Amino acid sequence: MSTLPSAPSGGKVTIQTLLSKKVHGEPITFLTAYDYPTAVALDRAGIDGILVGDSLGMVVLGYENTIPVTMQDMIHHCRAVKRGVSRAHLVGDLPFMSYQISTSEALRNSGILMQKGGVDAVKLEGGRERARAIRAIVAAGIPVMGHLGLTPQSVHQLGGWKVQAKSTEAAKTLIEDALILEDVGCYAVVLEAVPVEVAKLISQRLSIPVIGIGAGNACDGQVLVTHDLLGLFDRFTPSFVKKYADLFSAMERAFQEYITDVKEGRFPAAEHANSMDPQALRDLVREISFLEPDIEPDDKVRYH
Ligand code: KIV
Repeated sequence: MSTLPSAPSGGKVTIQTLLSKKVHGEPITFLTAYDYPTAVALDRAGIDGILVGDSLGMVVLGYENTIPVTMQDMIHHCRAVKRGVSRAHLVGDLPFMSYQISTSEALRNSGILMQKGGVDAVKLEGGRERARAIRAIVAAGIPVMGHLGLTPQSVHQLGGWKVQAKSTEAAKTLIEDALILEDVGCYAVVLEAVPVEVAKLISQRLSIPVIGIGAGNACDGQVLVTHDLLGLFDRFTPSFVKKYADLFSAMERAFQEYITDVKEGRFPAAEHANSMDPQALRDLVREISFLEPDIEPDDKVRYH
């Protein structure tokens, strides 16, 4: 029997809340956000955790992959999201090359993301090769979320966006890596694009929460890229995504309607404009009479 209290329904979500949810078998919900309004909407909707993922490089900044994303990008977007969050647990991704070069750089950049970006925890990609860096970051009091399976910052090494750990050998290595991440102090692990059976084994073996994306329903929680879920990304939708809206089409339609309205004189209508006091207008017209204004009967002023 666990001594952890039930996951609280209100109040700030902490790493202890997430652990408690795992212990009590309550599914953990995460989504990504990169800006203030999305953060507000997610927080109000009752999401457990918000990830400012480096996926922002693709879905917001239009890069082909996550590799060009910088610390400056991450800080900028973490700060925007932070302003919209009051309840959810906030995680920021460490971008490519911010933690791979040395343990001291990993530690320094984690500290910067927490101090300047305002995140509650950092996430980084990789297994045993990150053990030393993770230990150092955790020892400094910064919670670390791991990320295994399809790790997008290694997309060129992996040969594309492919499901990982399909062979016995690869699955065994993945399970070992997950155990190492737990051992060196990660408080949670994201498992991306791995077979459901492997994700289940890992979720059962680890005592920290396992958050799946394209890893089936046996994980302790789920995360998706919000732009995929909302249908806001125009290039592709991964097969593991459930699309809950088609906002890209809605956005295009709204823009087309606006363009047509402006062209055909339907916008702005009277209710979208402010009028001047009639006496003030008469005075104005008198004072600038040298401009020869033509006052229309409906009070529209045209100068020619
Ligand atoms: O960058 C991101 O959004 C992520 C999720 C896919 C887990 O790492």
